[in-house]
Amino acid sequence: MTIETWVRDHLGLDRATSAELRYERMVWQAAEALPWVHRPADPAQPFDWVEEARVGAFLAGLGRAQRVLDIGTGDGWPALSLARHVQEVVAVDPSPRRADLARDNTRRLGLRNVEVVCAPAEELPFSDGAFDGVVSACAIEQSTDPDKVLREAFRVLRPGGRFAATFEDLTAELRGPVEETAELYIEEETAVYRLVHRSLAPLREAEYELRFRADEVLRQAAGLIGPVPTFQSTGDEPGLRLVSPDDRVLGIPLLESARGALLSARFFELRHRSPQETTAFVGEAGFRGVKAFGNITWLARDFFSPAHLEDLLLKLSPYMDAITRAFGRLYGAVPVGKTSVFFVVAGKP
Ligand SMILES: C[S@@+](CC[C@H](N)C(=O)[O-])C[C@H]1O[C@@H](n2cnc3c(N)ncnc32)[C@H](O)[C@@H]1O
Repeated sequence: MTIETWVRDHLGLDRATSAELRYERMVWQAAEALPWVHRPADPAQPFDWVEEARVGAFLAGLGRAQRVLDIGTGDGWPALSLARHVQEVVAVDPSPRRADLARDNTRRLGLRNVEVVCAPAEELPFSDGAFDGVVSACAIEQSTDPDKVLREAFRVLRPGGRFAATFEDLTAELRGPVEETAELYIEEETAVYRLVHRSLAPLREAEYELRFRADEVLRQAAGLIGPVPTFQSTGDEPGLRLVSPDDRVLGIPLLESARGALLSARFFELRHRSPQETTAFVGEAGFRGVKAFGNITWLARDFFSPAHLEDLLLKLSPYMDAITRAFGRLYGAVPVGKTSVFFVVAGKP
């Protein structure tokens, strides 16, 4: 039995959204400070060339678009990076915390052509044909109703407009048919248990947030794994670990013994799609010429990262924008399946 099955069978759950349960509580969304989102680019860093190549791929996918909408911008990616290259960017995100951070980043970078709107993309507060480009980075599949989001993206694009979006490829990411990750931490008088369940068939992800009165059993268990202050922790950090259903610290026996102390139980559920399914589903929204590729980082990392290139990159720093923009046009050379993210481009007829 998976931990998810136990939770579903034994607890009364309230439905929430990923924005409420996951993105609203993150301090920062990205694992590292991103160039032209959290700080200016640094040409001495190969990482920044790779990141800028990703922006180049979005620009190539957008063609000549100048008024661009970014769906699910998070801290402002790719909206703020694109703003240096197009006339105007509007970024939406339903999480107030993310929208505030994107606004802070916009101000800090001195960008005057970015507007951040706090709204779910299922109901975009824009008129038909308001944009000539729509982008999104790993956000459409995080929404409650991705079909509706795509129909909205199509509606707000003018005829001839371009769509360019990345999607998380769970089929490439998961190492087994089912993966469960749990964490437990104490917040004053409350013990918070989080479970992320991801599976290949069906291709889905669900996250559960269980809040308990922090009794001795839970405090002891949390003490064994250490505190997890934010969601930015990685699998290598203490407190966030892979668990199997028979895990003695975070598994079903702990939940069974803590059940009487339950205060609330909320969850959200996401349906993921393979690259092939996504291509079909983007087409169903009305888009034409829909194509999926791997992430440009697969090429860009090898190209910009070798240590012996660092001096050369510094010499080339005045041309960083031009070079990474040209590099981005190679997005079509990366096959799907090479990376845990895929890139979809399409147009509105
Ligand atoms: C994985 S993050 C990606 C953020 C950013 N684009 C990036 O790549 O760093 C997913 C984002 O989608 C947002 N999101 C969730 N539900 C959404 C919805 N219904 N409409 C628009 N954005 C949504 C989340 O709040 C979150 O900021």
